[in-house]
Amino acid sequence: MYGLVNRAVRDLVITQFGEAKWTAVSQRAELDNDNFVCMSQYPDHITYDLVSAASKELNLAPSEILRAFGQYWIKYTAKEGYGELIARTGRSFVECLHNLNDLHGRVALTFPDLKPPSFQCKQTGPNEVALHYISHRDGLTLFVVGLLEGLAELYGTEINVRVELKGSADNGNDVFHISYTE
Ligand code: HEM
Repeated sequence: MYGLVNRAVRDLVITQFGEAKWTAVSQRAELDNDNFVCMSQYPDHITYDLVSAASKELNLAPSEILRAFGQYWIKYTAKEGYGELIARTGRSFVECLHNLNDLHGRVALTFPDLKPPSFQCKQTGPNEVALHYISHRDGLTLFVVGLLEGLAELYGTEINVRVELKGSADNGNDVFHISYTE
């Protein structure tokens, strides 16, 4: 994944747990260099190794790290100048969910080798949507839950998320049933 993602993991650990913890995490993940370049691509295993190392060093389950990272990603991208991009994606939380593919389409204009997930959002009730998530990456379900929570907070929307795993294992193809109060 692009270095922007790994930089966000580093930023999360440093701001919430301190520099010393980040040193421990990066050593455990056996990083040669933690100075990630936003626009360079890194093998996906580096991001997964960081999550696993953070889980051990911070004594939190990998699912908790991923969820916290999803929530943080919304704040981090805003801090890095992508807030306007999200704002233009929707005037409300739900409108934003309908336009997530367009959002990554616009991100891909600056990150040409982006391999984003794809989303499909369907209204399933007056205050409920089903968000289908399809990715060629595994194990990011809780990252998506955190992203949805972060996004909802940004729009001042209360949500409740129920995850329906598709297939026999976590295979990057899930449905998120989201009830919301705007
Ligand atoms: C302006 C805000 C955003 C930016 C700049 C952004 C950018 C990116 C980038 C650079 C990646 C790494 C992909 C790669 O390197 O191939 C990524 C992955 C991802 N993004 Fe976004 N994104 C944004 C907002 C969102 C939002 C709001 C969601 C969903 C609610 C989302 C869902 C994901 C997921 C789930 C992945 C992990 C990759 C996968 O599932 O295959 N992103 N995004």
